[in-house]
Amino acid sequence: MDVAIRPIIEDDLDMVARIERQAFPTLCPPTPLKREMGNRRVRYLVAWEPLPLDDGETSSGEYRELGTDGSIGGLGKLMGAVKDRLGQRKVRVPTDYLVQGFVGLWFVADEAHITAIAVEEDSRRRGIGELLIIGSIYLAMHLNSAVVSLEARVSNYPARALYHKYGFEHVGLRKAYYTDNREDAVIMTTQPIHSPDYQARFMDLRRKFSDRYGEASIVVV
Ligand SMILES: CC(C)(COP(=O)(O)OP(=O)(O)OC[C@H]1O[C@@H](n2cnc3c(N)ncnc32)[C@H](O)[C@@H]1OP(=O)(O)O)[C@@H](O)C(=O)NCCC(=O)NCCS
Repeated sequence: MDVAIRPIIEDDLDMVARIERQAFPTLCPPTPLKREMGNRRVRYLVAWEPLPLDDGETSSGEYRELGTDGSIGGLGKLMGAVKDRLGQRKVRVPTDYLVQGFVGLWFVADEAHITAIAVEEDSRRRGIGELLIIGSIYLAMHLNSAVVSLEARVSNYPARALYHKYGFEHVGLRKAYYTDNREDAVIMTTQPIHSPDYQARFMDLRRKFSDRYGEASIVVV
């Protein structure tokens, strides 16, 4: 699989904002992504792929080191135990690439809350949403969250099916949660992600994902 997951960097912001506008046209105002990148409780991951060249090859591009100027750091300050690892991690980014999707998470108390997830419209049904959920769960595990939660529109069947696949269960409703059409939100939460049951289920899904789509690089911190 050519698509890979890594933390957001500033170069991604325009592409992420475009996907957000496309996926959530009624969201007003748009998420202040740049400001959120400075919030130590917030993390964004992007799904990106190298840009294909005219001859069908992928660009080798120039790779540069992603230092601490990107999103790396952030939550490391919250989590003393992982701070050093976060700071040391290097990610290489090609110059020519496309962001195909993103996911945003808030980390509050022992909960990782997915605030937004979206995939470029023309690239849906290729496993990218699933890969973003896998990355989110890895990140939540790495940062020692107990559960992962989110809200979804009652009518958003594709998203709800994706979450259900990854063990998110319907735990409540927020009435008239969405201001554009007063639609209800379903609240969905995983069981404890460090429990043996969830870990076994997750690793099984992870293996099936690789069998179906091939290996994908996932860097979350
Ligand atoms: C929800 C969304 C992120 C899914 O991304 P995606 O890359 O198309 O999803 P994937 O190809 O990884 O599919 C993974 C699983 O999601 C579910 N799914 C995704 N699209 C679906 C669809 N159109 N119908 C039914 N199930 C769907 C399936 O369970 C699928 O697993 P399967 O392939 O084994 O059936 C994408 O549809 C999207 O960006 N929607 C607009 C933004 C949005 O609604 N975000 C959620 C806000 S709560």
